Amino acid sequence: MSQAPHHIAIVMDGNGRWASKRFLPRVAGHKQGVASLSRCVKACLERGIAVLTVFAFSSENWNRPAEEVSGLMELLALSLSKEVPSLKANGVRLHFVGDRQRLSEKVQAGLAQAELATADNQRLVLNVCFNYGGRWDIAQAAQKLAASGQPITELSLDRAMALAHVPDPDLLIRTGGELRISNFLLWQAAYSELHFSDKLWPEFDEAALDEAIAVYRTRERRFGQTTAQVAGDGKSQNVKAA
Ligand code: IPE
Ligand code: IPE
Ligand code: MG
Repeated sequence: MSQAPHHIAIVMDGNGRWASKRFLPRVAGHKQGVASLSRCVKACLERGIAVLTVFAFSSENWNRPAEEVSGLMELLALSLSKEVPSLKANGVRLHFVGDRQRLSEKVQAGLAQAELATADNQRLVLNVCFNYGGRWDIAQAAQKLAASGQPITELSLDRAMALAHVPDPDLLIRTGGELRISNFLLWQAAYSELHFSDKLWPEFDEAALDEAIAVYRTRERRFGQTTAQVAGDGKSQNVKAA
């Protein structure tokens, strides 16, 4: 039985289907998705989770209908003003992870402001991956190293990644029933335990989170070692920390 996860990452999928089932526009599903994220953050705080990383908008989501993309941009701006005060009050430190250059200047300023407002918080790190892709992250890290003339090693790349401020995720959850990664955390999920839930993201509640954590705790994390080694020396650990 392992400990509770330190870092949980979530592909928050299924908002569109949640809305379609109710004959609502897809953006209504995304709105409900923000409410579900807010509930999930609260649940993580109550359970002493240290880091929560969520996939909110992928590099590929620009290919959706223009109306949905602009709805998501508006929702991001709206959610910042609505949610940041309570995140700030509850000890949540916000980080936005992804390529900001394609976002409007207003949204970029809002992200920077939200990060600054919560910079002193220490209870929970909340990484919101927006215009993020795992391939983008690896490429930008390599570009940074090349530009500064540093040698490219696993360690130097790791330190140049957009999530270098947190350890790798212990548990990676995807809601919505699809069994794929969709360009999320390609580098950092090397040894994450995977959990797929059929629940659509707006329906993913405290009980569903508890179930994912409970299943995670039954897993034996071996990081390439044998069961006997893991049981014997208790030194099995994340390759990144090894
Ligand atoms: C995830 O929900 C949110 C984003 C990708 C922005 P979806 O919008 O992908 O919902 P489904 O998969 O179509 O139901
Ligand atoms: C992944 O969901 C991205 C986010 C949840 C933000 P998608 O709905 O975009 O993934 P695919 O297209 O089904 O693989
Ligand atoms: Mg989807």
